Amino acid sequence: MEKIVIEGGHRLNGSVRISGAKNAALPILIATLVAPGEHRITNVPELADISSTLSLLGRIGCPSLVSGPTVRIDTSRIAFSEAPYDVVRKMRASVLVLGPLLARHGECKVSLPGGCAIGVRPIDQHLKGLEALGCEFTLEGGYVYGRTDGLKGAEIQLDFPTVTGTENILSAAVLAEGTTVIHNAAREPEVVDLCNFLNSLGAKISGAGTSKLVIEGVSRLSPATRPYPILPDRIETGTYLCAAAACGGDLTVTNTDPELMSSVLLKLKETGCTIETGVDWIRIYRNGARLKAFKVRTEPHPGFPTDMQAQLSTLASLAEGTSSITETIFENRFMHMAELTRMGADVEISGNTATIRGVESLTGAAVMASDLRASAALVIAGLAGEGLTEVLRIYHLDRGYEKLVSKLHGVGAHIARVSDDIIDRAELQEAVNASTARAQAS
Ligand code: EPU
Repeated sequence: MEKIVIEGGHRLNGSVRISGAKNAALPILIATLVAPGEHRITNVPELADISSTLSLLGRIGCPSLVSGPTVRIDTSRIAFSEAPYDVVRKMRASVLVLGPLLARHGECKVSLPGGCAIGVRPIDQHLKGLEALGCEFTLEGGYVYGRTDGLKGAEIQLDFPTVTGTENILSAAVLAEGTTVIHNAAREPEVVDLCNFLNSLGAKISGAGTSKLVIEGVSRLSPATRPYPILPDRIETGTYLCAAAACGGDLTVTNTDPELMSSVLLKLKETGCTIETGVDWIRIYRNGARLKAFKVRTEPHPGFPTDMQAQLSTLASLAEGTSSITETIFENRFMHMAELTRMGADVEISGNTATIRGVESLTGAAVMASDLRASAALVIAGLAGEGLTEVLRIYHLDRGYEKLVSKLHGVGAHIARVSDDIIDRAELQEAVNASTARAQAS
């Protein structure tokens, strides 16, 4: 196994190119199942979760070919309609096969995902919506078996605007007979991207980006003639902006979309950073002055995203004054706080609110993350902290951040990816120096 080692205290300057959004690519790749034929999707990030998705599609009988950021998938034939435990356990988003497989194949068997490090995460709303469309489910041996004799449009009221729940229902409703209306639908940009993709196959979805989605079912969908580009990753964008806010410097993120991230940009301005935007770029700079404390509460889009909460926690740890962070989406998404405390952060948690009294600086330590965004928060803490930080369990980062180390090298970070076996401080320092020097020379 490998870990990331960071020598903190270097400002970040230059530009980072943002990849396609993981959470848009996953449902879109899986939704290709609704239209038999060959699909081309571009701006797909190179991530462990994408490989898992393509291998799941392969097991279903749909081979794919990856060429850089372009993926070709052939969904002409469905051989099996199952997402087994060993796949779902690694990537919960595998449950997204439910809607497309039921719509196209009339049956499916999907392992129940169970809880994960950030919460219990049931799929009751997914099943409720699909049942309203005419699916029947039984649970046995940890698996949910779904079948239908034909989907019929329905009015569906979600109890919560679940992102993947909305996506699952959408991907089934496009092939249902008649009209489906999803009330209290998720408004996240990734849901909008899925709607646009499905419409490019011939689906008739309106209301994307609002909480009422109207889907006129069609009898058949076909692959689009043009490749479909995945939208930019707003969480990757926000993560690099937070890294620059924490370290200071002058950073521009390119190939992104500022329109997708107003709540995050407003919060970064509150911390005292200067932000400039263009059509597809965002520049952030902070010179000298300390960050200012802030209050933040996570909410469904267009509110502040839960996927940026951990990264903001690192900024709060360094800000002048007392910040408060309230997590309302997941019940267990403060696991990074204990690790930040090991680096010197002053955090008190009461219920779903963390009160963080900012300190002048964080100190490097060996830290271990429980999930993807928590890992990103610890990398940012390491970049801004004093001395060496080791971030363990980086398989989380590999799931969601494409080429993290080389992108950070490109903007002046001193960072390396090394074997877990290296524990000697001098050797770790040497590895960081060598990796950084190599990156600067290339
Ligand atoms: N919920 C239910 N029942 C359901 C579905 C959801 O109670 O049937 C609850 C969940 O337990 C949670 C809340 O509703 O408390 C929100 O969950 P949601 O379903 O919206 O989350 P998700 O679809 O499982 C996606 C992203 C997450 C992101 C959330 C919230 C993907 C593949 N995942 O998850 O991304 O945090 O929406 O925006 O799109 C990440 O990228 O690190 C990540 C965790």
